[in-house]
Parts: sequence; C-alpha cells; structure tokens
Amino acid sequence: MNETRRAVLAAIADEAVSGPDLAARLDVSRAAVWKHIEALREAGFTIESDGGYRLVAVPDYGGPAIEFGLDAPFTIDYHDSLPSTNARARELAAEDETDVAVVANEQTGGRGRLDRAWRSPPGGIWLSVLCRPDLPPAHAPVLTLAAAVAVTEIAREHGVEAGIKWPNDVLVGDEETKLAGILTEMEGEADRVSWVVVGIGINVDPAGLPEDATGLRAHATDVDRRAFVQDLLERFAALRADPEEALAAWREHALTLGQRVRVSTGDGTIVGTARDVEFPGTLVVATDNGPVRVHAGDCEHLRPA
Ligand code: BTN
Repeated sequence: MNETRRAVLAAIADEAVSGPDLAARLDVSRAAVWKHIEALREAGFTIESDGGYRLVAVPDYGGPAIEFGLDAPFTIDYHDSLPSTNARARELAAEDETDVAVVANEQTGGRGRLDRAWRSPPGGIWLSVLCRPDLPPAHAPVLTLAAAVAVTEIAREHGVEAGIKWPNDVLVGDEETKLAGILTEMEGEADRVSWVVVGIGINVDPAGLPEDATGLRAHATDVDRRAFVQDLLERFAALRADPEEALAAWREHALTLGQRVRVSTGDGTIVGTARDVEFPGTLVVATDNGPVRVHAGDCEHLRPA
C-alpha cells in the first residue's frame, strides 16, 4: 500500500474526515483523495461517506488488511494463490527487495524441509519473510529460532498449548501433533548473508490433515488470521533484533530439552538426551560418549517404553 493510501486510512480510522480536509492534511488533490477511497473500497474496506469519510470495517484478510495497523517494518506482498511463498520471496530477493512478507491464502506447490511437499490449502497461514540481516551465514539459524518462538507465543496467546521441537517444528499437546513448520533459505558470501527467506507454514483448519498434524482451529474457536499474522510479524521483528532474547525464549518454549532424542544428520544418527540449545541454534545431546553438538538434522522425541 502506498504512503498516501496508508495515511488516508490512518486519518479516517477514528473519526469522519471530509474530502477537502483530507486533501489539505495530506497535501493532495480532492480527486486523489477520492481515488484512494475508491481503491480502498475495492480492496474490501468499508468506508462510510456520510458527513465525511469514516472507516467502519477492515477486510478479513489480504495485503492491505494485514498492512493496516501493522507495527513492524514489513511491506506485504499478498496473493490469493501462489506455488510457494518461499519461491516468490526468492524472486523478490533477486530484485533487491528486502523486509517484505509474502503472504498467500493458498499454495499449490508448498515446500517443506528435506525436499518434502507441504500441504497448503486455502485458509491456512502461509508466509515468507525476506530480509537482509547483518549476520554471517553461520548465524542465520537464529532467525529460524526467532520464527519458531514467534509462532509459539502467538499461538499461546490464542490459547493453543504450543511448544517447539528442535530445530523449528511447532507442536501441540501430549500427542505432539504438528501445528507449524519453518523452512529457511538463504544466499550469502563467506562472511555475510545476502538475503534470508524465513518461510512459515501454520495449519489453521484441521480437516484433511495427516494424523500427526493439527490446525489452530482444533484448539481455538476464534482465530483471526489477519491479527495472527500481524502479531506474528511484530513478534518476529522484535526477536530478530535480539538474538539473546530469541534463544532464551526458545529454551523456555522447548519441548525437546530434557527428552531422549534420536537425531538424524547427514552423517549418521545420534541418540541421547537433549540438554541445551546454544547460539545460533545448535542442539547439545548428552550421549554415552559425552556431549555431541548438532547443527542440523531431523529430531525425533523418543518416548519411554
Ligand atoms: C517443514 O518441513 O516443517 C517446513 C514447512 C514450511 C512450509 C512453509 S509454508 C510458507 C513457506 N512456503 C513454502 O513453500 N514453504 C514454507
């Protein structure tokens, strides 16, 4: 949404403002004000014009709806349907964009970790944040941790008992069904990241999900996707600026720490008790042969027999 349109919305959010007043306040013509009002109506905003323009309702979802009232430094690139928000964010990276959240109502070719497909029906929360942090590539995993913490905390604010399985799965309840997953991709030089795409997939409707997955609406009655995405982006923006806080919060919300785990890495399998997570996201596993530090892998929680 462009600056003037954003300013029009902000001006009419709390009170009715006449066309001439708006034009004077924003230093644009009355015709321009009218065009912005019409464009906003077309985007689904309900704007009354009795005694001045006044915003009375915001659309349920979509780019302008998410941007309206968002207190985080991201523009929204919204699509009803995309093959993959990560793929779109990578395209934007190639166009030198940054601080964009690509959001789609549906993905037709959603991708998960380890080259798995990610089921992304209409009505879920599928988004990818493109940013260019001043970090060496080896530190980029802390952004994945930050995203997992943000999803977990906002889910909890909605009353969903979520926790994190290393490195970045958000699970719910004793059954540990999967609510959300994160796929981070990046490009960089030896000492500095060029761009990072943090792709976040959150199941909303539980219908049709595999047995080991769940959706927000299985645990919370009132899920407003727009508010959820806004809160998520705001929390993510705060955590990416404070890696220490992200790590501390990750530990607090971790389901993995203290558990017997089996971690498959490219080089083999490690079995032991998960003891800690160290910056930027390294899992420390106590094994029979002493502590082992794992930087990446697939982790399974081993339940006592
Ligand atoms: C996982 O395997 O757990 C990670 C799943 C990540 C899915 C999200 S949905 C939004 C973004 N776009 C994609 O294609 N994948 C990620």
